Amino acid sequence: MKRYEKFADQIAELIRAGVLAPGEKVPSVRHASRTYGVSPSTVFQAYYLLEDRGLIQARARSGYFVRELARHSLAEPETSAQAAQTTEVDVSELVFSVLGSLKDPHTVPFGSAFPSPQLFPLPRLARSMAHALRDMPAHAVIADMTSGNPDLRRQIALRYMVAGVRLALDELVITNGALEALNLCLQTVTSPGDLVAIEAPAFYATLQVLERLKLKAVEIPVNPREGIDLEVLAERLANLPIKACWFMSSLQNPLGASMSDAKKQALYQLLLQHQVPLIEDDVYAELYYGAQPPKPVKSFDTDGLVMHCGSFSKSLAPGYRVGWVAGGRYAEQISRLKLMTTISPSVPAQAAIADYLQHGGYDRHLRKLRHALETQQDAMLASAARHFPAGTRVTRPSGGYFLWFEFPEPVDSLQLFQLALAQGISLAPGPIFSATRRFRNCARLNHGHPWDAQSEQAMELLGRILASF
Ligand SMILES: Cc1ncc(COP(=O)(O)O)c(C=O)c1O
Repeated sequence: MKRYEKFADQIAELIRAGVLAPGEKVPSVRHASRTYGVSPSTVFQAYYLLEDRGLIQARARSGYFVRELARHSLAEPETSAQAAQTTEVDVSELVFSVLGSLKDPHTVPFGSAFPSPQLFPLPRLARSMAHALRDMPAHAVIADMTSGNPDLRRQIALRYMVAGVRLALDELVITNGALEALNLCLQTVTSPGDLVAIEAPAFYATLQVLERLKLKAVEIPVNPREGIDLEVLAERLANLPIKACWFMSSLQNPLGASMSDAKKQALYQLLLQHQVPLIEDDVYAELYYGAQPPKPVKSFDTDGLVMHCGSFSKSLAPGYRVGWVAGGRYAEQISRLKLMTTISPSVPAQAAIADYLQHGGYDRHLRKLRHALETQQDAMLASAARHFPAGTRVTRPSGGYFLWFEFPEPVDSLQLFQLALAQGISLAPGPIFSATRRFRNCARLNHGHPWDAQSEQAMELLGRILASF
């Protein structure tokens, strides 16, 4: 990190903590330079950066001031409402039309599911790929297909260990991204017509997988801070023949909710009591902003009931399509199903990631990535507070790169999606996250891209469209 970036972060922290209040003057360049022992040009660069992030503004001949709405002033949404008990799922057409809108590289990518590729160490990964392939024994090209790259398996198991989860190595199945892992888990424990408990709102691919496998959804309400409503889940488990649960216990997509450890443990006990397996989708696990990584429900699993799915797509290597599942008592069945369908993710891609994990500085990269995402979240929250209509609510996830907005009732996010797209801005409208097409006045916005003048203009434009409803 450059000196001016570090200094900008110090000032941003003072703003976030309320030490520098909205409307207050930030130290003059001369004063800051003397007090903090940095050069005037470092201070200038830092202030330009904070201006870009929407935290401070220059006033002619007066200096820099904390922006009035720099501390987020929009309220948070409440727990989602309960839906009908079970639902057939039919959302794919809608999802594909939204995904299609993301192909144009000139569109402002607020609707994207990925952070900016600029935030990933792609050149370093390419070197790892070259290095790993040069040293790869010939037989490994074939042998590693069935069981996965042994170094990669060890590295993944090591990361579980560091996070406090003990795993037997043979529980790990390497897959084509987390999405294959999730599909295989669901196929392992259900048959067409079965009921699966999911979150509402849920990641849209969850709904598509249920639709494809002809499974019925039991939607469980989610609180944007605390995660699923355990009371509703307990009632549903007691009264319905639910065959599996598919939940994100940390940094849930799209709400960003993270359950407390106590709640994760209570969820595990409930599932244990009913002997219902949990498919735990944890693809954002590495993108937490705090000092400690969130624990997965898997860390409480004493019975092999949790299938914990992870991926490098969001944290290191999008497009490499390398993910995994720690499959508990289902690992063998999952592995066989994988061999019957796709056999294996690309062996070179696995080798590249294994080499990178050993030599590339993954944790250093993650620290930078988390920091960038947190900074960009601040910028989007501050910008929304400036431009979006009164009554808008927004989540405050403690990680990841999504914000979930709940707009005042007249706003129709499907219409908003069309109107914004016509102006070159994508977003993910609420109904794609629901089996019952709810959340019509909601949308998910991605802040995974460096914040710049174009982002700010796009938020302003969205604000104008929102005001027209
Ligand atoms: C919640 C969630 N689960 C799973 C996936 C799929 O991950 P992968 O790209 O590793 O298949 C995504 C990607 O968007 C996601 O957001």
